[in-house]
Amino acid sequence: MAEIIINMKHIEKRYNNVPVLTVQDLEIEKGDFLTVIGSSGCGKTTLLKMINGLIQPDTGNVAVNGTDISQTDLISLRRSIGYCIQGSILFPHMTVEENVSYVPDLLNGRNKTKTRQAVSKWLKIVGLGDDLRSRYPSELSGGQQQRVGIARALAASPEILLMDEPFGAVDSITRKQLQTEIKEIHEQTGVTVVFVTHDISEALYLGTKVLVLDHGQIQQYDTPQNIIHNPENDFVKNLLKDGFHYSEEEVS
Ligand SMILES: Nc1ncnc2c1ncn2[C@@H]1O[C@H](COP(=O)(O)OP(=O)(O)OP(=O)(O)O)[C@@H](O)[C@H]1O
Ligand SMILES: [Mg+2]
Repeated sequence: MAEIIINMKHIEKRYNNVPVLTVQDLEIEKGDFLTVIGSSGCGKTTLLKMINGLIQPDTGNVAVNGTDISQTDLISLRRSIGYCIQGSILFPHMTVEENVSYVPDLLNGRNKTKTRQAVSKWLKIVGLGDDLRSRYPSELSGGQQQRVGIARALAASPEILLMDEPFGAVDSITRKQLQTEIKEIHEQTGVTVVFVTHDISEALYLGTKVLVLDHGQIQQYDTPQNIIHNPENDFVKNLLKDGFHYSEEEVS
């Protein structure tokens, strides 16, 4: 039996009494790369932010590693969960090195050598040279900033990595490279990834599982192959029609 790392039960989130997300029972297996796909406003970010407690549901609960997160210390929970969002969320007054070292420094204490090695390792994995270490975010391209953001999230060796449309702002060539890199990182580290996108090709290419959301309701939660071959309803069928520009061997 696969281990369940994230479990959402009987969740409802409302704004001004209007439900924006309803999840009866969602189990995410350890080591999965879950892509969450749906149109703007369907509740993707809300779902993601519930996992690290940035948004609290009105009813129901979220458990990480079997523990209800409303009963845990949210600061240490967030330190154990990497979080990348679209655009740069780097600290502007810190260099690349300082940005990536931020959490390892907290964890490694005085052991600066360990931190420096971790920074080099992660910069290399996301495809950035050591020569960028002393630059500030404003001295980097958008794609480079995005890579530093990923390195920073991974440098804390999180068990879970939450990514909210992380490649939205980069050109298509950089996007393709970042997709290949994140897929490799997932395969190498076994980190559980929850990745929000509105691009069906990206969702099918990256995901070991795909969660289709519409108007705050789960339409299908399945492997990419089943999404393609056994779409459960018209919404999923139309989503596939809209974005059919991937080749099937690319789907994991
Ligand atoms: N603080 C808030 N107050 C009121 N409504 C909100 C608030 N935050 C989000 N919403 C609404 O909740 C719904 C879900 O928002 P959410 O951010 O999860 O969408 P999303 O799927 O991430 O969209 P996008 O693709 O545009 O980022 C939207 O209709 C949004 O307008
Ligand atoms: Mg969003």
